[in-house]
Amino acid sequence: MVFAALLLTNCSSISKTSETKPSSNLKDAFKDDFLIGTAVNVDQIKEANPQLAQLEIAHFNAVTPENIMKAEVLQPEKGRYNFEMADQLVDLAKRRNMVVNAHALIWHSQLPRFVRQMKEADSVKKFFNDHITTVASRYKDKVYSWDVVNEALNEDGTMRKSIFLDKMGEGFVVEAFKLAQAVSPKTKLYYNDYNIEQPKKRAGAIRLIKQIQAAGVRIDGVGIQGHWNVNNIPFKDIEESILEFSALGVDVMFTELDVSVLPNPFDSNTADVGARAEYNAKMNPYAASLPDSVQKKLADGYESLVKLFVKHKDKIGRITLWGVSDADSWLNDWPVRGRTNYPLLFDRELKPKAAFHQLINIKNNVSSNQGTNHVQLK
Ligand code: XIL
Repeated sequence: MVFAALLLTNCSSISKTSETKPSSNLKDAFKDDFLIGTAVNVDQIKEANPQLAQLEIAHFNAVTPENIMKAEVLQPEKGRYNFEMADQLVDLAKRRNMVVNAHALIWHSQLPRFVRQMKEADSVKKFFNDHITTVASRYKDKVYSWDVVNEALNEDGTMRKSIFLDKMGEGFVVEAFKLAQAVSPKTKLYYNDYNIEQPKKRAGAIRLIKQIQAAGVRIDGVGIQGHWNVNNIPFKDIEESILEFSALGVDVMFTELDVSVLPNPFDSNTADVGARAEYNAKMNPYAASLPDSVQKKLADGYESLVKLFVKHKDKIGRITLWGVSDADSWLNDWPVRGRTNYPLLFDRELKPKAAFHQLINIKNNVSSNQGTNHVQLK
């Protein structure tokens, strides 16, 4: 400790100039804070666009597969597994020195047809056991973490209706973690959901985490997805959630961050992939381009969010954006198909947006304003 403190004090006088030198890559800028991740689709895993691949390599040290590790892809038919893309992702991440957050073992959505059609509880339990055991053991030393259960809760904190709740009861969550832990003892195990920063749903997530812990089963972290709207980022709820979740002894992560700038067709925020609304021109106001005022608002929203994350960096393990460029965001087609959204840090030409620059600047200001104080906090 003393030695480290001395070292830092010494460095501070010599390296003032180098410390204030801007770091233009996200992963380097935030290297003392948390991992910076992105979601990747099939084309990105195949490195179809070299320029996009370069951005991924430059800015991110963590990766989450957007779709290819979901059950409908990994086990399209009963007992027939397809690991091709997942294996490619693991290789890619290894080459690039990125950690993989595998997403997701148990989720009510994007299930294979044979599971959706199941009527018997025994069949569902067998799928549940076989899928978790087979998939988690295959990737046990290859992925850093798993979203073991995704989206098990309703907005009011009760359990969401799903084939797993229906056939196995509320205990399916604990059971999933137990099975994953048994075959993959070194992999970090997470619960992941949207809107769990909201007080009622947060209480549900806290209940689930406590159930897992009370059963003597390991849970390492909780992922707040972070699909928000630029007009309504719930900063206070987010901060309270960081504190309350981390008080349970788990790592907090923001796992699918994107900030929509388009009108929300619903009364409240949701990221339910099953929620759909009809297209009309009013719902797509920025089809040609994004006004500067909205671009600025988006950038300010991102800046305030990430400043809040940095404030609590000791509790936060990873921030993952749900994609790299606006062109590839799922928010162009959800919840309304065919819109032009601008939720990420890079534009459709793969140029960094104002939001990107403001995030990088957070760190430049921090290091020039706080000097060694910032370093010592680590
Ligand atoms: C989305 C993908 O981005 C889309 O490509 C896909 O069509 C549907 O799923 N919460 C999650 C993610 O946990 O898996 C979802 O990803 C977005 C909401």
